[in-house]
Amino acid sequence: MARKIIKFTSLFLLVLIAGVSVATMLRQHLTYEAPYPAITASKDLVMIERGKNLVMVTHGCVQCHSPVQNVDSVLKMGQEPSLAGNKKVETPFGTIFTTNLTPDVKTGIGSMTDAEIARVLRYGVKKNGEAVLPFMQGQNMNDEELTAVISYLRSVKPIENKVPDHEFTLLGKFARAFVLKPSLPEKTKTLAKN
Ligand code: HEC
Repeated sequence: MARKIIKFTSLFLLVLIAGVSVATMLRQHLTYEAPYPAITASKDLVMIERGKNLVMVTHGCVQCHSPVQNVDSVLKMGQEPSLAGNKKVETPFGTIFTTNLTPDVKTGIGSMTDAEIARVLRYGVKKNGEAVLPFMQGQNMNDEELTAVISYLRSVKPIENKVPDHEFTLLGKFARAFVLKPSLPEKTKTLAKN
């Protein structure tokens, strides 16, 4: 009797693990729908300067998106650290590489529209519909701040810098499959689809 129970329990666990593994694999590229904020970058110098301040100081985007190690000292010298990305962030979920935020078309955000950049920053949904990793939540930028940030990003010199793909651990893959969600506005929450 005891052996039978052990046998059934092991079989059950095996099937469970297999099921979770398959589901994890199948759920690596879930996509979501979210509205595109009506944001258009501006060439207005005051707006660009405001965006620079948000990126460099207020929201600290530069801290993660610059490959430069000593961001603060570069800032103190009155210079702008590059936003070419590729800062490596080690987490239990995997090794994450930050995005190149310069307007380079091949390796930066030059191939994204203003609305696509605004959407990922506001709702966490990337151009391809997948959820962005939760490094940038809580900024709650209003339309004017988003416009300023994107206007500034459009104004910097494009730098070609190919960033490697993230390397997720098992835990990371599991989290991507079952935990990671974009911060969708209430009414579109039900639109998540496979
Ligand atoms: C704590 C670190 C961190 C901070 C601060 C940060 N980012 Fe990011 N950002 C990341 C990481 C990591 C990714 C890659 C996420 C992914 O691939 O899902 C990313 C991705 C992006 C992307 C590309 C998203 C896409 O569609 O692929 C944009 C645009 C972006 N960040 C803009 C910003 C801006 C603007 C700020 C400041 C308002 C900012 N980030 C602040 C870490 C950060």
